[in-house]
Amino acid sequence: MRSVEVSAPATIANLGPGYDLMGMALDSPKDFLRVSLIKSANDEIEVKGIGGDTISAEPDQNSSMVAARAVLRRAGANGYGLKMHLRKGVPPRMGMGSSGASAAAGAFAANVLLNEPLDEIEVLECAMEGEKAACGSAHADNVAPALLGGITVILNYEPIKVTKLRPLAGVEVVEATPELEIAQEKTRLAREVLPASVMLGTVVSQMSSFALLLIGIMKNDPKMAGEGISSDRIVEPARAKLIPGFQEVKRAAMEAGAYGCSISGAGPSVFAIVPQGAGIRVGERMVESFSAAGIRAKFSLHKISEEGAKVV
Ligand code: HSE
Repeated sequence: MRSVEVSAPATIANLGPGYDLMGMALDSPKDFLRVSLIKSANDEIEVKGIGGDTISAEPDQNSSMVAARAVLRRAGANGYGLKMHLRKGVPPRMGMGSSGASAAAGAFAANVLLNEPLDEIEVLECAMEGEKAACGSAHADNVAPALLGGITVILNYEPIKVTKLRPLAGVEVVEATPELEIAQEKTRLAREVLPASVMLGTVVSQMSSFALLLIGIMKNDPKMAGEGISSDRIVEPARAKLIPGFQEVKRAAMEAGAYGCSISGAGPSVFAIVPQGAGIRVGERMVESFSAAGIRAKFSLHKISEEGAKVV
């Protein structure tokens, strides 16, 4: 029996105007996954840790298992069974790429166990299958940074093409998480509120926001990147109504000195990129602002991390 233990990090997807395209890996929290290749026909997974009791342990619905199984299938190793122990560190349904971290860990671990028959892009495609099993859509903006680390940009979906950018230096990431009743199908619901089409003028405006975000990151100019993050014209306006107090929380973050602020992934957490050392001040203002809207919330501080999935 061969075994490996891997970790994969939390991620923040979209970064404002980069819907389904941009995402970044955080230094914490992480999911930990132990996988064994066994001679049985049955796959088995046990899920523990934060929110583990809310995650399906059905092999065909669990993102780690589906992603790992996709690797075995592609590598022609379908005859093996998989035994998994998943310890969740990334809280599910908060907007921190929880299913993406588990899917990335599953695909990465299976590829390691088989002595890496698949290349990076193939592993990414398998992780996307895991993401789809968990939330109904095969978007890659969480699984790509969870696998590769850093800030990733999806350049194309068919065929999938991705590039990795250096993290912005000298910044902290504040994640403010409201205590809300979150539906099991949160991401699917948050995608359903998005407009099916937009006016050309909105597209032009969104492209300039995306350019600010991308070029700001490439020039390591957090002010420019932050301006891009804060100026999503399509997704944030549609989803803001799902997060009570969102506009006030965003205003509070910006007034407290954030470079940029938007919804973290599909929400409900709200993230801000802030100058090094300003995280506590900004986080406190964001939590106060949620509280003024009648919502209890907490905040956490993170770094953008170069590190993706790895063997531990
Ligand atoms: N791009 C995805 C969305 C990320 O916004 O629906 C979900 O975490």
